[in-house]
Amino acid sequence: MLSDLDFVLGVERDAANLPFITPWERTQHEGAVRFPDFRHFIVEAGTGTQAAGFVILQGCRSPHRAVELKRIVLQAKGQGLGRACVRLLKRMAFRDLRAHRFWLDVKSRNLRAQHLYESEGFVVEGTLRDAVRLDEGYDSLVVMSMLEGEYAERVAADQESG
Ligand SMILES: CC(C)(COP(=O)(O)OP(=O)(O)OC[C@H]1O[C@@H](n2cnc3c(N)ncnc32)[C@H](O)[C@@H]1OP(=O)(O)O)[C@@H](O)C(=O)NCCC(=O)NCCS
Repeated sequence: MLSDLDFVLGVERDAANLPFITPWERTQHEGAVRFPDFRHFIVEAGTGTQAAGFVILQGCRSPHRAVELKRIVLQAKGQGLGRACVRLLKRMAFRDLRAHRFWLDVKSRNLRAQHLYESEGFVVEGTLRDAVRLDEGYDSLVVMSMLEGEYAERVAADQESG
């Protein structure tokens, strides 16, 4: 909701997250909340409804059935929450949004996220060299994806439970 955007902007600009993402202006987030091609979620963890981070999907109405994990940012790191989110997001993309392709890009310096995506079955497609400008120099983007058949195989192999 629009009322969540103060939290979202705060998480996005947190020094622990900033090196791994390109933060948006509030108006971009407002657009993503309103525009039906996007889904903009708050991640809640624990027993209450405490906000733990946020997720943005894009391409939810894609005629190509290509859904993008546009952004995932979690405040508590290294506790398995990212894996739980990625698993839920795959289910949402393939089962609920009927995606054929679920894809993302990740900065090449972001080894934690790359490890997570690869261990969750995403396949590296290639690298967009020097696609992101940094304060000093550039970083590349690694493009990764999963196709619906690959997801179905993982479900059949019981790799998507939990
Ligand atoms: C990326 C992110 C969503 C992952 O969530 P998380 O809750 O920290 O991830 P998890 O704890 O579920 O899993 C992290 C995995 O990475 C591994 N890992 C941690 N640091 C690592 C590193 N430097 N190199 C390689 N692997 C690393 C962990 O060991 C774990 O793998 P394992 O379960 O096989 O041991 C979260 O850390 C985050 O929000 N980071 C900042 C923003 C960001 O990078 N977003 C993604 C942009 S594409």
